[in-house]
Amino acid sequence: MTITSDTPVAIIGAGPAGLVLAHLLKAIGIDSVVLERRDRGYVEQRVRAGVLEHPSVELLRDLGLADRLEREGLSHRGIELAFEGRRHRIDFLDLVGHSITVYGQQEIVKDLIAARLAAGDPIVFEVDDVTIDGIDSDFPTVGYTHDGERHELRCRIVAGCDGFHGISRDRIGEGPSGNTVFDRDYPFAWLGILAEAAPTIDELIYSSHERGFALYSMRSPTITRLYLQVPADERIEDWSDDRIWSELEIRLPTGDGFSFNTGPIHERGITTMRSFVSIPMRRGSLAIAGDAAHIVPPTGAKGMNLAIADVAVLAEIIDDVITDGKDERLDDYTDECLRRVWRCQHFSWWMTSMLHRFDDDPFRRQLQLSELRLVTSSTPAATNLAENYVGVALGPSLRSPATQAGDGRSLAGARSLASEGKVDR
Ligand code: APR
Ligand code: PHB
Repeated sequence: MTITSDTPVAIIGAGPAGLVLAHLLKAIGIDSVVLERRDRGYVEQRVRAGVLEHPSVELLRDLGLADRLEREGLSHRGIELAFEGRRHRIDFLDLVGHSITVYGQQEIVKDLIAARLAAGDPIVFEVDDVTIDGIDSDFPTVGYTHDGERHELRCRIVAGCDGFHGISRDRIGEGPSGNTVFDRDYPFAWLGILAEAAPTIDELIYSSHERGFALYSMRSPTITRLYLQVPADERIEDWSDDRIWSELEIRLPTGDGFSFNTGPIHERGITTMRSFVSIPMRRGSLAIAGDAAHIVPPTGAKGMNLAIADVAVLAEIIDDVITDGKDERLDDYTDECLRRVWRCQHFSWWMTSMLHRFDDDPFRRQLQLSELRLVTSSTPAATNLAENYVGVALGPSLRSPATQAGDGRSLAGARSLASEGKVDR
């Protein structure tokens, strides 16, 4: 037997994209159900990147979801670029008037899950066999199995926020117009560790070394996050703690008065690097957001921010469709996202290309060094980096709809359209 229920929006995936979308919709009075394949503990512990752009922080603050982030997040007014043994500061606050915030992605996920559950709104963890039917109609359904029972959610919009390995992107490609993929693999990966070691500097160091890239980052006053460029097919078992620390010692600019603490390594993993965009991001009543639609290499720290930017656009379009019956607004979704997606793709590719060792080509190395010297000595070049790093504003039409003046709706006044019967079932 299948248990059937109705919701305006079915959201597949409880990562940053799915959870922020659920909160944005809630703020404008639109109910949704979030379906997540993993258990709560798994998604809350999954270690990922940790840099929030200024517009992402503002959006979370507007939604009332930034209390812990503002208490525990580390505000950084710039980064350092290291090459030829020396560090060079890029001061974002001076250059473009904004800072970034270092706060682990899994901490955001914890905060968003806690707030949603506290409000009594549904997240169904440990779902299996998720299916999407009726995509080309106005009445799609999402099927799933939970606790051995089969369920069917009848909805108006399905949001595929199920990451790079989810099921939603392929369903778009199966449509009559198919899809187009743009991608690039890199011949290297990042070996990342979390170490119980107090950071010795309060900004990130991106180091371009002859032996490969290294990144010095952090999570809290007691936890350091570090990365090393390694070959794409590297095995984590081949890296002992000693090997990791001594390679970091070589690649970080320790001759420039910088020293760092070592300590027990709690987490280690290898992340492959890829640039990927799949278009369109919507077919019929299914729209995809975040890693489901695009991947960036982590060098520009854009992945989570891009996921948040997509769902800011999507929430506004869903509002137009569900509240005002403007179904044609779905046609705008891909194009409204793509401008930012490609800006972030370019920035991430550029940072990756400038900082990593690709091969032994001395000509390429000289070009990299020349670009690094330019970015660290020319104000316009540094401003370009800073502007991209802190993030382009989501823009008046892309900010949380709940915070826009004059449309008669607010966080406090949020009402449930579903309960008012505005969702045609
Ligand atoms: N059914 C339900 N849930 C699914 C399914 C499925 N078939 N497939 C995947 N999921 C879940 C995953 O378990 C995961 O929790 O979807 C979620 C997708 O979350 P993320 O991978 O975090 O993707 P997104 O929300 O787009 O966030 C992008 O994550 O990978 C990082 O660097 C990336 O920071 C960026 C961010
Ligand atoms: C991180 O702290 O995990 C981090 C920081 C900056 C990046 C990528 C990852 O560019």
